[in-house]
Amino acid sequence: MAEAPVVRFEVVDGVGVITVDYPPVNALGPGVSDGIVAAVDQGEADPAVRAMVLIGAGRSFIAGADIRRFGKPRPASPRRSYDALDAATKPVVAAIHGYALGGGLENALCCHWRIAVPSAKVGLPEVLIGILPGGGGTQRLPRLIGAKPALEMIVTGRHVPAPEALTLGILDALVEGDLRSEAIAFAQSVVGKPMRRISAMPPAAAEPGLFEAMRTSIARRARNQQAPYHCIAAVEAAASLPFAEGMAVEKRLFGELENSDEARALRYAFFAEREVARIPFLPKDLPLPEIRTAAVVGAGTMGGGIAMGFADAGIPVKLLDASAEGLAKGVARIRDNYAVSVKRGSLTQAQMDQRLPLVEPVESYEAIAGCDVVIEAVFEQLDVKQAVFAELDRVMQPEAILLTNTSAIDIDRIAGATRRPEMVAGAHYFAPANVMKLLEVVEGPRTSPTVLATAMKLGRTLGKISAYAGNCDGFAANRSRIGFTMEQNIMVEEGALPEQIDRVMVDFGYPMGPFAVNDMSGLDVSYLTRRRRQAEDPNYRMLPIPDRLVEAGRKGQKTGAGWYRYEKGDRTPHVDPEVHRLIREAAAEQGIAQRAFSDEEVLHRLLFASVNEVCRIIEEDKALRASDMDVMWLNGFGFPRYRGGLMFWADGIGARAIYNQVAAWHQRYGDRWRPSALLQRIAEADGLLREAKAPRLG
Ligand code: 3HC
Repeated sequence: MAEAPVVRFEVVDGVGVITVDYPPVNALGPGVSDGIVAAVDQGEADPAVRAMVLIGAGRSFIAGADIRRFGKPRPASPRRSYDALDAATKPVVAAIHGYALGGGLENALCCHWRIAVPSAKVGLPEVLIGILPGGGGTQRLPRLIGAKPALEMIVTGRHVPAPEALTLGILDALVEGDLRSEAIAFAQSVVGKPMRRISAMPPAAAEPGLFEAMRTSIARRARNQQAPYHCIAAVEAAASLPFAEGMAVEKRLFGELENSDEARALRYAFFAEREVARIPFLPKDLPLPEIRTAAVVGAGTMGGGIAMGFADAGIPVKLLDASAEGLAKGVARIRDNYAVSVKRGSLTQAQMDQRLPLVEPVESYEAIAGCDVVIEAVFEQLDVKQAVFAELDRVMQPEAILLTNTSAIDIDRIAGATRRPEMVAGAHYFAPANVMKLLEVVEGPRTSPTVLATAMKLGRTLGKISAYAGNCDGFAANRSRIGFTMEQNIMVEEGALPEQIDRVMVDFGYPMGPFAVNDMSGLDVSYLTRRRRQAEDPNYRMLPIPDRLVEAGRKGQKTGAGWYRYEKGDRTPHVDPEVHRLIREAAAEQGIAQRAFSDEEVLHRLLFASVNEVCRIIEEDKALRASDMDVMWLNGFGFPRYRGGLMFWADGIGARAIYNQVAAWHQRYGDRWRPSALLQRIAEADGLLREAKAPRLG
């Protein structure tokens, strides 16, 4: 059977309708651009055609260039769809639903009119994959709407909702009802009217200092990156050069970015974040229950954040706490958090008024009995959690999904408090729960496939990125960080100062250094975790320096001192000679010689420890893919996105070099650096760490 064409052309009442049909999102895949060119030519040649419509079949207009084809040789077409649309002598109307992104919006900008349904979104998100709009977007959008709003859209890559796009002047009209018939009617109505060709417009107006101000404002966020600055330079050209010259600048800058390390890393991250949703061993087409109502047990900071996530997704959620006081505090905290968002402008008052009533405080387990899902977020202690699950077992409907937000406790022991362990899984949130994108979904040994798949899907419904993890201490994400944290502290004993380590990691691209983060979250939490681990494991490596800080009352920002010193009411860390003294003393007592560290050694000690552990996690089937672990590091730990993720970054150094270094540190420091068998295998095969897969995936 012949393949269906990716672009169709038909004439309806004097209007040539060009339909792009390349599922799932009408990316500009093979044949799409050429198909549009051929359709435009057909419309131009047909005397019966007086106007044309460009529209997408299925769920979207056009989501942009086909990202899978970047970095690979592509046959150069003699004419691009952009040029054909722009040059058409008959008016072309872009009819937008779903998304018009990147090359999608750029094609729409080459049309002479643009209409959309109110739910559509438009944008030029190329910067998010390390490139810039290369289909004339940097030259046309500023001409159409002015340099300032265009610059903001292109540098942030944000998706602009259709009503805002109308206000900005990107769209000519919003239409309700059937888009195709509306577009045909619109096209008929513009026949004979003057055609606006953006390429014929003069350079965009820009206020003085606009571009410099933008460079300054992104300096921190965009450090080590090239694409945001190239975006600015391209828009600057649109504000000063004639169209053809501006296009030449865009082309040159695009060429510099397409295969940059940054673009390759960001493309990898884009696809890794889609792959992470797939659990190949789950039966296909498993019928999944719908989640219409939810309950959260535990109204602390975490529980409140989780409840907000449901309310944000429009799902009514009941909030239960052991004490009336805890419940009242929890609800007040949720209200305050929403109010802060309204004040900051990230939420409207109307949205707050819609969301807040979705959180219903309740005082008994009976009140949550009918909910489709419960997430437990009580104190991190096995017996406390088991007591909650015994109650849930007593009241909940048999088909309810029971999730525990533990960060380390054995899921199966929690599930064991019920007579339905198959209904229990882990849903490990990262703080703050309503902000952080990552949701680690933990499969216990008895978790049913339906519950696992429902929890994964629920995460996505809540706007999270769900990542699979197996049941083990720390699960996948936190377990992969233990080595990092260990080395961070041990290097201090050996002579690297916290401020050096923090600087190295900030230079690498983290928003904050690990010691500054420790001070922010409070040193007492990990102090207690260490006590627990020490009690469980006689060989546990103690960390005397952070222990002493806590024992001296230095618990971080909240006590005005931790690894750093803080002025009252200010969160800026100040280097504290008292900490240096304490470090020297502790090292001397343990007989550890202090020495200087190179920045590279600091970076490698922290990250190689985690690379080695990630390999172990994968070989034990506790994570499915190295790329899943990268997704966790990007969305749970602030790893710089333009480096792709831990394992993608590690491939830049090479598995062999990393293995050799890990083996050398194993000789020098002992068992904690024992190389994983998987790391060794990949190194010996000169393979890619980012392609590592769990044995259960075959
Ligand atoms: N190229 C190739 N594949 C794409 C794609 C693209 N531009 N956009 C989406 N896809 C694929 C996804 O990989 C996914 O495939 P899978 O089902 O095999 O995993 C499928 O389409 C569906 O995507 P999502 O799961 O992301 O679906 P959502 O509905 O959640 O989101 C979306 C849809 C908002 C369009 C989102 O996919 C997205 O942001 N896509 C990228 C958009 C983009 O960056 N466009 C610019 C491209 S660069 C460009 O145009 C250059 C030009 O200037 C020259």
